[in-house]
This record gives sequence, C-alpha cells and structure tokens, in this order.
Amino acid sequence: MHAVPRLRVIIEEDYNGISRAAASIIAKEIRTKPWTVLGLATGSTPLGTYRELIKMHREDGLSFSLVRTFNLDEYFGLPPDNPQSYHTFMFENFFDQVNVKPENISIPDGMVADVELFCASYEESIRKAGGIDLQLLGIGRDGHIGFNEPGSSLGSRTRLKTLAEETVRDNARFFGGEDKVPRLALTMGIGTILEARKLLMLASGAEKAGAVKNAIEGPLSSQVTASALQLHPQVTVVIDEQAAKQLEKREYYRYVEKMAKSVEHDTGI
Ligand code: GLP
Repeated sequence: MHAVPRLRVIIEEDYNGISRAAASIIAKEIRTKPWTVLGLATGSTPLGTYRELIKMHREDGLSFSLVRTFNLDEYFGLPPDNPQSYHTFMFENFFDQVNVKPENISIPDGMVADVELFCASYEESIRKAGGIDLQLLGIGRDGHIGFNEPGSSLGSRTRLKTLAEETVRDNARFFGGEDKVPRLALTMGIGTILEARKLLMLASGAEKAGAVKNAIEGPLSSQVTASALQLHPQVTVVIDEQAAKQLEKREYYRYVEKMAKSVEHDTGI
C-alpha cells in the first residue's frame, strides 16, 4: 500500500515530546522493514531521539541488526577519531549503544584526498543499498539541512561545501571557539536528500522558529534549503511549541493531526 503524499506537521509540547515522537516514527519503520536504510543527522536536536531509540533497543528489543545507515555530513579536515567529528558524535551518542553492525554504517570521510571521487562513491553506496528509506534531519538557524547553506543548488549532490558564518558561530560551542571550527564540510546535497523515500525533520526552541516558518510556509528558495522539503511527497516535521511559534497555520496543523487520528487507515509516517 502506498501512503498518501503529504507534508505533515506535528507540534509537540517540548523537546522530550519531539524525541519520543521521532523515535517512534523511526522504530515503526524498522519494525515494518528490519533492513531499513536510515539517513542520520547530527547536532543537538536528534540527541533525544537517539536516547529514545537506545531505550527501545534495551527495553523493547528494537533491533538494528539489519539496519543500514548513511550520515548526512562530516567536517572536512577532521579525522574520524577527532572528538568533534560527526563520526565520534554518532558512535558515542548512538552506534555504540545499539546493535548496528559497523559494516552497515557510512559517514562521509572528512580526510579524503580525492573529494570528487569520494562524493561520487558515497552516492553510489546509497544507490547500491537501495536508497534511503527514512532520512532524519535537523535544521540550522539559516534554514540549512545537512550543511546545505543558503545559496546551495536545490539539485545539489554530495559535495564539499563552505560553511556560512552563522553556522560557524552556532557550532563554535562544540569546538571551544569560532577559530577552531572547520570552514568546510562534506554533505549530502539537497537532490540527494530529496531522493530518500521519507523525510523526518526535527526542530526545537525559539531560535529555530524563523527557519521553520521559512522552510514550511515560505517560498521555495535556495536561500532556505529546507524549503525544498515542500517538493517531497512524504515529509513529517516534528517541532515543539517554541519552534512552531512563527507558523501562521499552526492551529490548522494541530487540527489536521486530530482529524488524522480519528481516521482509521494509515496515512504514512
Ligand atoms: C549542523 C548540522 C545540521 C544540523 C544543524 C543544527 O549544521 N550539519 O545537520 O541540523 O547543525 O544543529 P542543532 O540541532 O545543534 O541546532
């Protein structure tokens, strides 16, 4: 059965609510298809989702033994064992605590010598794995997804990207100073992300409210790369009250969710 195409907006009370809702969407996907190909994201936002998934693995037997994963991005020039690399982030906060097989994990390699060759081979491995079933996304304050900064082509593929100043400032907290933040990153492109069968974007807090509004209700624009989600047939956006506060149609989105719950058939993620 094919799910009805939709852009679904779920507004939860707080960060814990987002994390539980996102984890249950991901768990449902894995329980339906144990060999699911997951696209994964880093940043503070998905941390709670990973915590919930780890809990489900420990307490409810959720198994990742057949799951294949592809991460969105990695800082360029950081070796995998650097404490600030997205490699380290993913292993510490998720992979080391569930039963994903190491050979089923792919994260862009920030140390590659031949960037073009590497990017093409990353795309090829996604294709060989059968494509991404569910891609998890956060959103930057400038409306980026992955590291697709304002001005990125909406058809872009995995490539090397220059970070925007705002992103460098936002991520300085992890590096102990702006001067230590890498200026370049390898990231899946918007075209790559749009090929995933389902997208799940999370946002929390008032500082994301502008980006969320522009992404969901703004015009489709390369200046807000998350607005490309509007082109995708299966998108679920899970946000908290604070991140939802600039949405003009937020009462309508709540109403739609209430109606959806009263309809029996599965309307997709
Ligand atoms: C980085 C990541 C994005 C992430 C964004 C927001 O730029 N490349 O994937 O969505 O930060 O991060 P946070 O969730 O910490 O606000």
